[in-house]
Amino acid sequence: MPIKFMDLAAQNQEIRRRVEAEFERIHSATAYVGGPQVAEFEQRFAGYLGVRHVIGVGSGTDALRLALIAAGAGPGDEVITAPMTFVATAEAIFQTGAVPVFVDVDPDTATISVEGVNRYLERGEFHTPNGPRAIVPVHLYGLPAAMGALREVANRYNLAVVEDACQAHGARIHCAGEWKRAGAVGTAGCFSFYPGKNLGAWGEAGAVATDDSQLAARVGLLRDHGRLSHYLHQECGYNARMDTLQAAVLLAKLERLEEWNARRRAIARRYQELLAGCAVQTPMEPEGTQSCHHLYVIRSPRRDRIFEALSRAGIGCGIHYPVPLHLQPACGALGYRSGDFPVSERIADTVLSLPMHPHLTDREVGKVADTVRTALDAL
Ligand SMILES: Cc1ncc(COP(=O)(O)O)c(C=O)c1O
Repeated sequence: MPIKFMDLAAQNQEIRRRVEAEFERIHSATAYVGGPQVAEFEQRFAGYLGVRHVIGVGSGTDALRLALIAAGAGPGDEVITAPMTFVATAEAIFQTGAVPVFVDVDPDTATISVEGVNRYLERGEFHTPNGPRAIVPVHLYGLPAAMGALREVANRYNLAVVEDACQAHGARIHCAGEWKRAGAVGTAGCFSFYPGKNLGAWGEAGAVATDDSQLAARVGLLRDHGRLSHYLHQECGYNARMDTLQAAVLLAKLERLEEWNARRRAIARRYQELLAGCAVQTPMEPEGTQSCHHLYVIRSPRRDRIFEALSRAGIGCGIHYPVPLHLQPACGALGYRSGDFPVSERIADTVLSLPMHPHLTDREVGKVADTVRTALDAL
């Protein structure tokens, strides 16, 4: 039997009836845009994260773009981020008119290096007239970046911190003496609800989380054509609203998120036990962080060999991400070259994502680990 990389069908089975009942309500009211489910989801997700405001938007990319604009990023500014991420992190920065500036990642966690950010800011040689305006740490694969230290640096240089929490629904960080949710620590946190995420819609959706009422109000305007009232527009904004049907799916799935994340954590522990002593690097979780294990990413210089063996055995796997952003044609205008971010480049050459979803059975986890082990033994 093949082993799926993710299993959305199994997930849907658990929530299908609840969602269909909610869809019926939406159809009866024909409230496809701005229906009550959007506000209800915003309120529940804000409660879950422990923030004052959540603003539902059309995608994670919308969330990043609107949060950055609302945090003041625009033409003439730089926004610092890591090259080891999905392209949308940089796209959103470009879309504000600001310039993305990359800082390499920490070799253990693959999240942005705080020392690297510090060094860049201390050097003070900036690429734009205004210099840096914000930092976008990416909680890669569900592991929170070093938010406590990053917040200190940001405060020192008066920068906004816009968390890319698009892979980190339910991850936690110990910060300033308490555990907080990823996305609830910086100036704003940005989420994607792309279907395969830990909290995924049945289409496109995203959200911005923040304690800052002014920022929340601006994101609220920007997502809806800068609208103050039906035909009165404060500024030119975007059509970046959350779809009501997606909000209904998210309401149902949010109720299961903790349980699903607990199962992901148990699977991660099992992988770690089964792969102990095997020549692969398993993901680490520094003290004070709790990953939500969106992806379970191992590292090996023999990654391609393992990938082939898993594929031959009918086991779904992936590479997140084979090309770091500074080497993407889409970022060519920034002028970076191969060798500029050696840690990210090494990670991109060695990472391999194993199946990870809450409906994976212990037997399947065992089969995946055995296949990895056998592939390496055969060398
Ligand atoms: C790290 C990261 N940032 C941003 C995004 C963009 O989210 P969306 O696809 O919802 O626009 C994603 C989505 O995969 C992501 O993984």
